[in-house]
Formats: sequence, structure tokens, C-alpha cells
Amino acid sequence: MRKACTPSKFVADVMNKVPPSGIRRYFDLASGLEDVISLGVGEPDYVTPWHIREACIHSLECGETSYTSNYGLIELREELADHFSTKYRANYDPDTEILVTSGVSEALDVAIRAITNPGDEIIVVQPSYVAYVPSVMFAGGVPVIISTKLENNFKLTAEELEAAITPRTKAVIINFPNNPTGATMGKEDLEAIADVVCEHDIMVISDEVYDCLTYNGGHTCFASLDGMRDRTILLNGFSKAYAMTGFRMAYAMASPKIISAMMLIHQYSMLCAPITAQIGAIEALKNGQHEMERMVRDYDRRRHLIISGLNKIGLDCFEPKGAFYAFPSVENTGLSSEEFAERLMNEQRVVTIPGNVFGEAGTGFLRCSYATSREEIEVALERIGAFVDGL
Ligand SMILES: Cc1ncc(COP(=O)(O)O)c(C=O)c1O
Repeated sequence: MRKACTPSKFVADVMNKVPPSGIRRYFDLASGLEDVISLGVGEPDYVTPWHIREACIHSLECGETSYTSNYGLIELREELADHFSTKYRANYDPDTEILVTSGVSEALDVAIRAITNPGDEIIVVQPSYVAYVPSVMFAGGVPVIISTKLENNFKLTAEELEAAITPRTKAVIINFPNNPTGATMGKEDLEAIADVVCEHDIMVISDEVYDCLTYNGGHTCFASLDGMRDRTILLNGFSKAYAMTGFRMAYAMASPKIISAMMLIHQYSMLCAPITAQIGAIEALKNGQHEMERMVRDYDRRRHLIISGLNKIGLDCFEPKGAFYAFPSVENTGLSSEEFAERLMNEQRVVTIPGNVFGEAGTGFLRCSYATSREEIEVALERIGAFVDGL
């Protein structure tokens, strides 16, 4: 008789330290309910524009089914370089400074692994996307949390950053426009961050996946600030702006040394991003501007609808200037974020995500995605109103 295996014994220690995503839990809870309206998912409700899908279909018909360069198709990298040069005056060499990845999710993981030695501290600014802390932990790094505050419009301040930096700090991860708050940071705000970053000689991983989704004023690309290009690993992708979440298409831009380190991981773990998705991305960059802007105008209308609706209900709502999330406070209801979200789901069948899922700083808030139809937002607001009235 051979010795029985205890699989749990083989799981790496870090896996027991990383909690499962709090977002998933709410989808699982909602999955058994009928007539549910979801303000839960961070995903456009649009189908990818037809011309992008058509370009992919055509490429398949032509038999374009091979691997690509590990870096990604050169045509895509050239389009990206042109796009960033025109839009942000951020210049990258398509041969050595751009890596095409499977989603910002992969770019983030590879970026953190490429720069982190065991024990290095990586600052994570919260509330923020749920993958940051686990990605740092998987890489053997130590996440150091900064909690942004409502009174600062959920912006990161230079003082907060300065206070979190230690001799072990390697980098800070920033994400503006922000998931889940919708906060943005203008040029002046970012310049103050850039000063601190330079003074303490650390890197910035800037996740700008919502750069196209800004409403009052444009976006400042962190890497475009004076002296910041080589200090920044710029991450961006097609999921949100072009409604291409399922394509898993994104990219990282950085100095050649950083990109080649990231490439080393990417080539052995992923080899390359899927060719069909890369062809879709080229089409999106070449001809997708008009459709993308139409979607953004529509998000903006929904943004007004949901913000004014939530405020009328009595859930104070900070005005988000980017992404597609409202982040109202539920504190004056006397319920915690989790109690509010769970009861709202069970009693009124509206899915939202408790703010604390995005870090302690989100305690007392609720994330409501408005990447859903006007009609659904209207019904959701009626139901949220009925729920709050009944408390
Ligand atoms: C801030 C942020 N970064 C990255 C991602 C993941 O993007 P992708 O679909 O490109 O992996 C998301 C998805 O919600 C996000 O909100």
C-alpha cells in the first residue's frame, strides 16, 4: 500500500495568506437569485464593436493562427507607440519598450515579479483593484498600504506617499482613474507624487486601464511627466475602453531594461498573447476611436443618473470623474458595507460590492458599477431607495 497524499501539504505557504477575491463571493451569492440587477461587475455592458470582431473573424478566415513574437505583433506595438506619442507625448520604442500581454492582469503580475526581490516593499494605494496586494505577495514582496481619504477626493497625496516610504520600498502602484472610487488625479496632483518618487528613488507601476474613461477633463499619463518615463511601468489595455474584456489584451510600456526583464517571465509563462486578440487590438487602435467615444459619452450620462439618484436616496456620493463606478457612503444607514450589500441583494435583488473588499479604506462605502443600461440603473435606484426607506 502506498502512502496516501495530503495535497494541502504541498500548497505554498503564501496561498494560505492570500484571501480569495471578495468580489467573487458576491457573484456566487447572487447566482441563485432571480430578477437580479447587477451593479457588481467592473465590465462594460457593451459587446465589442463589430468592426473589431470582424477584423478577428477575417484574420481567422485567412488562417492567421500562429504564435507571434514574444513581445507581440510589431504592427500592434507600432500602433501603440504612435498612439501614445500623439495622445500623451510619451515616446516608446516599439522594438524594446513595449510588451503585449494577456490583460492588464498579466502585465501587473509580470511587472511586479520583474522588479521585486524577496522582502521588498511595494506600496499599494487603497481603495484599489483587488489584484494588487495578492500580486505583490505572490512575488515575495511585502505590500504596504496607503489609505486614501474621501476628504482628499480619494487622491493620493505626496505626504501620504512620503510617510509610507522606507529604505525597503521598491515601488508604488497607482491607479487613476481609480477602481473602485472613480477618483482621478490631475497633472498638478501627479507632479507632487513624481517629486516624492524621484527624491526617494523608487519606481511607479501606473495602471491606467481607465485612461479613456474620464469625464471632466482629460487624463494625465504618469509617464509623460518630466523625468518619469524611465521610472514608470505603464500598464494599459483594451478591456474597458473598447469593451474587449474577453480578448485579454493589454500592454506594458517601460524602459528597455524593465521590459526585457518582464519579457523573460512572459516568454516562459505565456509565450505570447493570442494572435486573434492582437489583431482585434490593432483594429481598435486604428478605427475604434469613434465607437469608444460614443460609449464614454453614454457612461457619462449614466454617471449623472446614478450619482444624482444615490444622493437623492440619501447615500452621499463623491463625484467620480473617471472609470465607471459610483462609490457612495452607506455610513448614515447604520449598516456596515457588507450588511448593506448583502441585505440589498437578498431583499431587493440588487448586487453591489462592499467597499471594504477594496481595502480597509473602502469601509463604509459601496461600489456600484454604472457599466449597465440606463433602464437597469433606474430600476436599481428605485430598489435601493425602497431598501433605504425600509431601514
Ligand atoms: C484597475 C484595474 N486594473 C486591471 C484590471 C484588469 O484588466 P484586464 O481585463 O486588462 O486584465 C481591472 C479590471 O477590473 C481594473 O479595474
